[in-house]
Amino acid sequence: MRVLRRTLGTLLLLASVASCATARGDDAKPGGPRPAAPAGFGQLLPAPASVRASGSGHVLGPGTVIRTGRTGDAEVRRVGEILAGQLRGPTGLPLPVVDAPGGGGIELRLDAAAPDLGDEGYRLESGPRAVTLTARTPAGLFHAGQTLRQLLPTAGAGTIPGGTVTDAPRFAYRGAMLDIARHFFTTEQVKRYVDQLAQYKVNALHLHLTDDQGWRIAIDSWPRLAEYGGGSEVGGGPGGYWTKDEYRDLVRYAAERYVEVVPEIDMPGHVNAALASYAELNCDGKAPPRYTGTRVGFSSLCTGIERTYDFVEDVLAEVAALTPGRYLHIGGDEASATPAADYAEFMDRAQQAVARHGKTVVAWHQLAGARPAPGAVLQYWGHDRTGAAEKERVAAAGKAGHPVILSPADRLYLDMKYDAATKPGLSWAGYVPVRRAYEWDPGAYLAGLPAGAVLGVEAPLWTETVATREDLEYMAFPRVLGLAELGWSQGPPDWAEYGPRLATQAPRMEAQGIGYHRAPDVPWQTRR
Ligand code: ACM
Repeated sequence: MRVLRRTLGTLLLLASVASCATARGDDAKPGGPRPAAPAGFGQLLPAPASVRASGSGHVLGPGTVIRTGRTGDAEVRRVGEILAGQLRGPTGLPLPVVDAPGGGGIELRLDAAAPDLGDEGYRLESGPRAVTLTARTPAGLFHAGQTLRQLLPTAGAGTIPGGTVTDAPRFAYRGAMLDIARHFFTTEQVKRYVDQLAQYKVNALHLHLTDDQGWRIAIDSWPRLAEYGGGSEVGGGPGGYWTKDEYRDLVRYAAERYVEVVPEIDMPGHVNAALASYAELNCDGKAPPRYTGTRVGFSSLCTGIERTYDFVEDVLAEVAALTPGRYLHIGGDEASATPAADYAEFMDRAQQAVARHGKTVVAWHQLAGARPAPGAVLQYWGHDRTGAAEKERVAAAGKAGHPVILSPADRLYLDMKYDAATKPGLSWAGYVPVRRAYEWDPGAYLAGLPAGAVLGVEAPLWTETVATREDLEYMAFPRVLGLAELGWSQGPPDWAEYGPRLATQAPRMEAQGIGYHRAPDVPWQTRR
């Protein structure tokens, strides 16, 4: 099946490039605008589970409508409206959304009985009369719509090729993390990232909301956390924080694009901003100054005083109340200023607080060295040089039933430099070129970790050196497309097939104003 899909994909890609090359030969004028990139099944990223090309495609025109609402379902209607909003700009068509099924055009159909499509899968059938998107869930319809976008040229109305795409993800969790603590980013900037990620079927946004350099989310019961502790960032800038309304608005925006927000309150280390805000949280009763450097591992909550647990309970209660999603991330990494026995006891109590508020714990994989609660999810961020014992602890936890999210630092850390010439970024885990970020198999990565224990993959972007939207996009793109492909498409990876397909995304990223890194290991097909 996989071989067939690949072969078919390659043939289709060649066919679409060939036919477009003819058109280009006729139309292209030296120095004139570059023609829009050809679209076709073979360019889809992430690659779908199966494609069957057949017959003529569906031509979009001024009369095309988007049909939803066989059941009058408001959520399907919203999926249709978002898709219309995404298509109107590039196509220049009005694309009204109507509640009148069955009349041709782009039709969204929720079908609870649709087989083999799972919670997020879909079928897209394209022919002269209609393009029909079918899924068991609105999330599946949303993903189908993102596939449809990629079947159209980056500009102009175009034709959706004839055939059927049947698709479902390999992993349930396909995430990106953004650190808004080291440098502050606004919710509007993060919404832009959500849009960029959701189009590649990424479905989780982990927000690193607190760290030594800043506390970014308002907590009513401890207001100085944000009001004082939010007023700093790396390098001495003004920092900032999100109000609860801003946070709720972002969570809603992401949910409408089927991206689940996973908030992280990092504890018991990485807490200088909290300690600076409240003297009573410090063992010696003295608040340290705010911190704007980039060291790690120097701060710890005072695990021996009950006030610390009031703080943990209050903060987690308020964050849980802001979170419709399943998960609360409690950090637990680099707690070198917390003695090991105190760490384990602290993490026990923090995990109990998460459970009290009805959420599932996620923690960095150091929790495997303490006592992960039943069902707790571990996020592995080791790398090739991580010690065997540490890796074995994570594999053992996976065998014992803990789901594992894989974020290997030397593969998926988007803050690692691509190479020596990359201006932002760090290199403690080595350079991570685009090919290296993609070319590994999450299902067979960590020795002894059962493939069934892999919940998915996540690409974190730490922001010690990333201060602007431009830096963010340069570090994330195009590597985060590899994350999307690894998370959604069936493995194992195949660079010879993936590299050229990734290259076809260049005009799409350019049309969206994404300032991606023009990496030398990618066979780009177009000039910039
Ligand atoms: C981490 O990079 N400290 C999770």
